[in-house]
Amino acid sequence: MEIIDSIKNRYSTVLFSSAPVEKKNLDLLFEAARWAPSAFNEQPWRFIIGIKEKDDIYKKLFECLVETNKHWAQHAPVLVLVSAKMIFSHNSNPNRSSFYDTGLAVGNILAQATSLNLFVHQMGGFNIDKAKKIFTIPENFEPIVIMAIGYKGKPEDLPDDLQLREKKARIRKHVDDFNKFV
Ligand SMILES: Cc1cc2nc3c(=O)[nH]c(=O)nc-3n(C[C@H](O)[C@H](O)[C@H](O)COP(=O)(O)O)c2cc1C
Repeated sequence: MEIIDSIKNRYSTVLFSSAPVEKKNLDLLFEAARWAPSAFNEQPWRFIIGIKEKDDIYKKLFECLVETNKHWAQHAPVLVLVSAKMIFSHNSNPNRSSFYDTGLAVGNILAQATSLNLFVHQMGGFNIDKAKKIFTIPENFEPIVIMAIGYKGKPEDLPDDLQLREKKARIRKHVDDFNKFV
């Protein structure tokens, strides 16, 4: 028995096609996020979705990225800012599960995307203060990543350095290393 396809086939591509993502497929990603578990069912995840050539949200998100990420993310047709609400809605106490829960929602997005042959590449490399300012993100909400989303492009249409990066071996710890606090 092998791990399921939506885990096995996922990876963070740098070779995005500029082909648009159909609305119905994009909607399915956020529907998948909706069903993620969360502490107190708070559902602290928030998404700002930018679609290339639709409005200026995409441009604003792109401007927040660090240059190294801009280099490959410029080809992706969708950028999404992922943020989390850092306090519980029912009592305003700090929610120490906010990032965890938001990661679970993004995990659902990754699995759903992979099942639709879509690729998602998350980026922590962006200017958080700039994002907060541009999108007037209120207090108690924290931006976490910007995700690039799209279909895989043809390698020959993309620069050599990205083709080379795409071929780099993916390295993982052994399962036995997960039970050591090192
Ligand atoms: C929170 C987070 C932040 C990341 N930030 C970046 C980034 O700024 N730039 C980048 O190229 N990749 C980024 N990555 C992608 C990781 O480098 C990648 O997931 C990891 O190397 C494992 O490779 P894989 O996703 O292909 O399995 C990020 C991933 C996560 C989960």
